[in-house]
Amino acid sequence: MPKEAMDLKQTILSYDRAVPRYTSYPTAPLFGANFPAEKVVSWIEALPEGSKLSLYVHIPFCPKLCHYCGCFTHITSRYAPVEDYVHILRREISKMGARLGSKTGNRHIVTHLHFGGGSPTMLTAHDFRLLMDTLREFFTFDKNAEIAVEVDPRHMNEDLAQTYGECGVNRISLGVQDFDDKVMEAVNRVQPFDVVYKAVEHLRAAGISEFNLDFIYGLPYQTVRSLTRSMDYALLLKPNRFALYGYAHVPWKKKNMRLIPDEALPDATERFELFKTGAGVLEEAGYKPIGIDHFVKESDDMAIAQNEGHLGRNFQGYTNISPDALIGFGVSAISQYPQGFAQNTTVAHDYQESVLHGDHPPIAKGYEFKGEDLARKEIIEKLMCDLHADLDEIWSRHGHETSKLSVFKTQLKPFLDDGLATLSEDGALTIPEEARPLVRVIASTFDEYLPPVETTQRHSMAV
Ligand SMILES: C[S@@+](CC[C@H](N)C(=O)[O-])C[C@H]1O[C@@H](n2cnc3c(N)ncnc32)[C@H](O)[C@@H]1O
Ligand code: SF4
Repeated sequence: MPKEAMDLKQTILSYDRAVPRYTSYPTAPLFGANFPAEKVVSWIEALPEGSKLSLYVHIPFCPKLCHYCGCFTHITSRYAPVEDYVHILRREISKMGARLGSKTGNRHIVTHLHFGGGSPTMLTAHDFRLLMDTLREFFTFDKNAEIAVEVDPRHMNEDLAQTYGECGVNRISLGVQDFDDKVMEAVNRVQPFDVVYKAVEHLRAAGISEFNLDFIYGLPYQTVRSLTRSMDYALLLKPNRFALYGYAHVPWKKKNMRLIPDEALPDATERFELFKTGAGVLEEAGYKPIGIDHFVKESDDMAIAQNEGHLGRNFQGYTNISPDALIGFGVSAISQYPQGFAQNTTVAHDYQESVLHGDHPPIAKGYEFKGEDLARKEIIEKLMCDLHADLDEIWSRHGHETSKLSVFKTQLKPFLDDGLATLSEDGALTIPEEARPLVRVIASTFDEYLPPVETTQRHSMAV
């Protein structure tokens, strides 16, 4: 490796630290318990006429546990709990629809619906259709609404794919992670290429053409060689988008991750090389990097949104859709309103009781924006999406004194001195391409609530 590249790698690694992924700001650990549900109801009722809504439906079930999994899910081989859950979900959706007055006045319009999990593909075709019928009964959908489902290719079959097509699903996110046998055995997810290939075939035959593939770098036993080979296979599927997530190893929070032997995990230098290699394969194949972990074709809506300056980031990751509110259904689901965040309870029994017998949404935690939150949120989101933020403009637009920005400028000095960021006279902060692995770290400069040095580690490492 040339000396300059070696020096840059060492400099980047010297800044590596545990920081949030900023799918929200403030981040979920800051949401307060016992948040008053009445407050959230007042936020819902205050949504103006014609508001654009993004809906999220959480399906917290999987038949088998992947050892690397950081999602909120339960493992079950029985369908009865899933069926019961669908019943409660439909009730939650209908209550929210009635509260929003959508049925009577069409006051809001759904521009985006996302099924995530867990594994939405645990739902039978019959139950998926039931849920879609309920959603369409209680909400008005834009005719071009994006309807997306996170698909585990191991569960896909012709019948389910046809049902998705008939229900208007037009975007699929496929969980692949890797194709290498040794890597996949180590994480308890063996899923050969032909399984994924067949899943894609069924979905394409059902008229669904927009595909995203999820890959993870930093998995046990992964090498530059094995990842390159797996990604070459993945490219044969011709996805429109790729997500190349860094494995977030948080065994102190997620017990299943303790099943992965530490010595099998790539170290920070190897992780750096893995990401660089994966990104290189994708860029050579014509994908443009977006934010910290996405790669899309130039013609993709996400690339267009970035060029037009309205790429956003929320709990589902990067998005080209900017709704006025995001409403989450199901256990643990998070909603976002102009005034703050609300999270549904993660306790199945509480969720059921609250939905079936309560007067309010099944909310357990929440956060109301205050002080400088919205300005900091916008700066962090811009950096995470565009690697660029007009600090002075954003700060003054939110009504704050620009003199305060000198504090940030002092904190940014090490990055500026090391060429990992530039700051123009009029306060435009830009992160150059080669410092992309540090976007989370640089963005964390604007996080008011992140301790300078974490006493208890909550987050995964940035690189
Ligand atoms: C809900 S899963 C996708 C749907 C389905 N359950 C599956 O696995 O195919 C969402 C995605 O999160 C990513 N993911 C899960 N745990 C992760 C972790 N610890 N670090 C990084 N990415 C992770 C995986 O790429 C996975 O595809
Ligand atoms: S990665 Fe997907 S399939 Fe695996 S346990 Fe997590 S949510 Fe379930």
